[in-house]
Amino acid sequence: MRAAAGRLVGGVLGLSSTTSDAWFLLVQDHVDVLLLDHAHNEQKAASTAISLMFRYQDDARLQRELSELAREELTHFEQVLALLVARGVPFRRLTPAPYAAALYRHVRSEEPSRLLDTLLACALIEARSCERMKVLSERLGDRELRAMYAGLLASEARHYRTYTDLARDRFGVATTTKRLDELARHEAAVLTTLHPEPRMHA
Ligand SMILES: [Fe+2]
Ligand SMILES: [Fe+2]
Repeated sequence: MRAAAGRLVGGVLGLSSTTSDAWFLLVQDHVDVLLLDHAHNEQKAASTAISLMFRYQDDARLQRELSELAREELTHFEQVLALLVARGVPFRRLTPAPYAAALYRHVRSEEPSRLLDTLLACALIEARSCERMKVLSERLGDRELRAMYAGLLASEARHYRTYTDLARDRFGVATTTKRLDELARHEAAVLTTLHPEPRMHA
């Protein structure tokens, strides 16, 4: 991962690293697999938001905002699925990168820390998606894909803010900022080893 220079997106989104050239070089020649993985990520993002709604039914704000977020993730899923169909790539199972599971291992098991950590892990996943979509929107050779990623990255940045705002609302600014910083360092550490398969979070 590259250090601090030129990390506007990373800095804004609470990430503690920016994506390396090595990741882009890994995925640029495998865009069909990258798109498949992206479709799975959108589906998983919706599913995670809905799971949180089931787990925290007493939180009215969380219910409202994650319901909206889940619907939006499913529209992203449908958008990527349509692109896969247009390219003749059937939707199929794909082994995920170890990234999300590795990040969730830092989620504490006792409440209310579990909620704080889960919200912030989700926020960081959204932030990393946004940061990588920005790279894809600028560097991919395929104009259609560049345009799609340029169109999607703002909503992923908004999802980052949804999760961090929910955390601040429940846990306060100081606690949220401190824990976000800790988890951001774990997130960056997970990505220091490039996963060999072309994945959004390789
Ligand atoms: Fe999305
Ligand atoms: Fe998202």
